[in-house]
Amino acid sequence: MEHTLVLVKPDGVRRNLCGTILARYEAKGLTISALKLMQVPRELAEKHYAEHAEKPFFGELVDFITSGPVLAMVLSGENAVAVVRQLNGATNPLEAVPGSIRGDFGLAINENVVHASDAVATAQREIALWFPEFTE
Ligand code: CMP
Repeated sequence: MEHTLVLVKPDGVRRNLCGTILARYEAKGLTISALKLMQVPRELAEKHYAEHAEKPFFGELVDFITSGPVLAMVLSGENAVAVVRQLNGATNPLEAVPGSIRGDFGLAINENVVHASDAVATAQREIALWFPEFTE
């Protein structure tokens, strides 16, 4: 069983898209193994986005993810990391195909509705960060 970390970002929560987005993951056959609505502490945001620390948009990234509650979850299933990435679509909503979450609901790269782990190793790091109590 593989696990991945998914965040419905503040734009998705503000636009009341949580139910719609969760329904897509569940309909695909993934299991919700952990779920919480939370205001993101700045320190957690900075750790989560540590690999982007040198990018010019790092400050904007942290400001945005801390701008309102996010719905954080662990999704589980066979090939969960790749399956969620496919359901989410390309990072840039302009490149995400219609039918994907970002293709259907996103307008801009900085407010792209969802985040998901990009690889199994990243998922392990991110789950430990967001759900330190999580055990398989
Ligand atoms: P996410 O999957 O949360 O991980 C890194 C985020 O950086 C990505 O989604 C985008 O929302 C954001 N991002 C990538 N490129 C840019 C950019 N050029 N300007 C602002 N944000 C960006």
